[in-house]
Amino acid sequence: MSFLAIQTQTGWGRALQSFADWCRPQAGWLTLDVGCGPGLLPAFLAERGCQAYGVDLDRASLGQPLHALLAQARAERLPFPAESFHLVTASNLLFFLPEPARALREMRRLVRLDGWVALLNPSERMSVAAAMELADQRGLVGLDRHSLLDWAARAEAHHRWDEVGLSALFAEAGLSLQESALKIGPGLARLVRGRRIG
Ligand SMILES: C[S@@+](CC[C@H](N)C(=O)[O-])C[C@H]1O[C@@H](n2cnc3c(N)ncnc32)[C@H](O)[C@@H]1O
Repeated sequence: MSFLAIQTQTGWGRALQSFADWCRPQAGWLTLDVGCGPGLLPAFLAERGCQAYGVDLDRASLGQPLHALLAQARAERLPFPAESFHLVTASNLLFFLPEPARALREMRRLVRLDGWVALLNPSERMSVAAAMELADQRGLVGLDRHSLLDWAARAEAHHRWDEVGLSALFAEAGLSLQESALKIGPGLARLVRGRRIG
């Protein structure tokens, strides 16, 4: 399953667009999306006037980029100076990393004191059963259905976070959670954003 197809041929593109707006980006902001795949989220942030960078570990994901400012890098060691960005995002990355706090600490290092770190991950409401119900309700077929169910299965195998869990993860990384929201059907995704503590 290619992330280029998922980002461009399924409802996931709308989820990323909604996440981009939820981050309330401002024109002129310098932004970084970690684990960007082919770069749809940075492309949306660029459309909103940001100078938007993206990084991904996987060279193949960057093979047919949807955006210009993409580079290969590992979330745990990002090749940018401290306090560079107004907004650092990660969509559907931290929930399957073995050490999510480590990546989040690295994201914190890069964000300005007045900046934001924003995450999208499976919520506590995510499960294969809930995803199947949503797929049936919406009549999803093909890649749309398969990618939603695959996401749910990966979430069950790794992390699903509620607001309390993400608040603790933020605190562990030196961040303070400021806002949280549930999106996608009955709330299968949890969006959070927060600021640096000091
Ligand atoms: C589930 S995809 C999400 C892609 C995109 N953020 C989205 O929401 O459509 C996860 C992405 O994270 C990348 N990735 C996995 N581990 C990573 C790491 N340690 N550092 C950076 N990127 C990583 C994968 O190559 C993949 O492109």
